[in-house]
Amino acid sequence: MRLNKYIALCGAASRRGADKLIADGRVTVNGGIVLGMGTDIDIQKDTVCVNGAVIRPQTENVYIMLNKPEGYICACSDDRGRRTVIDLIDGIDARIFPVGRLDYDTEGLLLLTNDGDFAYRCTHPKHEVNKKYYAVARGVLNDQAVRTLCGGVTIEGVKTSKAEIEIVKKTSKRTEMFITIHEGRNRQIKKMFQLIGCHISYLKRVAIGDLELGDLATGKWRCLKHDEINLL
Ligand code: URA
Repeated sequence: MRLNKYIALCGAASRRGADKLIADGRVTVNGGIVLGMGTDIDIQKDTVCVNGAVIRPQTENVYIMLNKPEGYICACSDDRGRRTVIDLIDGIDARIFPVGRLDYDTEGLLLLTNDGDFAYRCTHPKHEVNKKYYAVARGVLNDQAVRTLCGGVTIEGVKTSKAEIEIVKKTSKRTEMFITIHEGRNRQIKKMFQLIGCHISYLKRVAIGDLELGDLATGKWRCLKHDEINLL
């Protein structure tokens, strides 16, 4: 079996991520560093290590949806000792990791899996998976501001792709809305609103593609059903 496929099967990275690990010299086969992309291994006999740790194929893939509360980081561990989303998942033996990221103070739908290729497909911009958020902005958002945000704004020199905004409620103090984007740039929504002088005071992801968070309580998780996995 190709080495990159084996690394993905073990949940250590996506296939492309595996190519990078190999190129960076972080993969050994039977103790020797392997740099060749096309390396084949014998899964019965060879011992593969990534960053010095032996990896083994996972017998089963796991797909979880979590309603992330604020105050948790989307990582498997944190060198600053903050709580991670993994702390909210109990009773799962597989080496799961979050698919993409929500900010520390953002709530809502987060996927976790041990399937590197699935995570890659969900997060790569070329697959254009829509992400829908419920957002509360301080102050009133006028029609011009909505048009500007929907048409794309330039963040750190790169224009955001088109967004959709559906206003739910407006008062003089706040605007509640649904906003849908299909990129996953760092703090994208907050930065988009910052550019037009508006502060997002609450953000919650409610759907990824056709998969909806539904009534899953904050802090709770469940395994995805087969048809839900296929939706993605
Ligand atoms: N956009 C943000 O600004 N933050 C998130 O957590 C997700 C999208």
